[in-house]
Amino acid sequence: MSDYMLEIHQIDASYGPIQALRNVSMNVSEGEIVTLIGANGAGKSTLLMTIFGSPRASKGYIKYQGRDITNIAMHEVGRLGIAQVPEGRRIFPAMTVEENLIMGTLPIGDEHMEEDREKMFVMFPRLKERRNQRAGTLSGGEQQMLAIGRALMSRPKLLLLDEPSLGLAPLIVKQILNSLRDIAAQGTTIFLVEQNANHALRLADRGYVLVNGEIRLSGTGEELLVNPEVRAAYLGGH
Ligand SMILES: Nc1ncnc2c1ncn2[C@@H]1O[C@H](COP(=O)(O)OP(=O)(O)O)[C@@H](O)[C@H]1O
Ligand SMILES: [Mg+2]
Repeated sequence: MSDYMLEIHQIDASYGPIQALRNVSMNVSEGEIVTLIGANGAGKSTLLMTIFGSPRASKGYIKYQGRDITNIAMHEVGRLGIAQVPEGRRIFPAMTVEENLIMGTLPIGDEHMEEDREKMFVMFPRLKERRNQRAGTLSGGEQQMLAIGRALMSRPKLLLLDEPSLGLAPLIVKQILNSLRDIAAQGTTIFLVEQNANHALRLADRGYVLVNGEIRLSGTGEELLVNPEVRAAYLGGH
């Protein structure tokens, strides 16, 4: 039995004839912030989605807290304490901010709903100001805060995020990524997928680089930040 919270071992995944992941192995230990960086189309979202079983890994296995979850039903993953902030946020635009947060409690029930909602309002005061506003009218950054808050309402032990910085202004990106630091400090393990390598590697304890569906490099955030290949390909050569 391994000590990893999340262990992905030699998985393949495909969409019909298109193979998106090849022999991918990576792991996340409890309490870590781990990032996966890679260019558009590298397979980052696919890797996150295989944890929820769509698409399924066709080879290898995925274990969570030592338990094989490679083939379990998607709705069961949430009950195990894994929550995801999907690419593009996927908030419910016609619902209010508060209603979106309540939706996040679905995997665990509403026992802690009011307490946790207040915590989200402390973490993201802008959401409190806009609690009765329809989510579709929020700015991109506010929608991202809401997507993160909604995911946290299920009290996850492991939070997966797919490119939370996408399309946001630099100042908001900084704010969002700083909130991830706070979330981690409060005991939630974080697996962050990002194209924004610079910010992600500064935040993360460890990182992996995905190229064309394969893990090319791994190391601490600091090691990857100074790696010549990473600098040339993902940090604009600076
Ligand atoms: N639903 C899908 N059907 C077919 N091919 C897909 C689908 N989703 C992604 N792909 C392909 O899988 C590869 C990896 O995509 P993706 O995981 O979305 O990459 P990333 O998130 O790194 O941008 C790409 O070649 C993409 O075109
Ligand atoms: Mg993606």
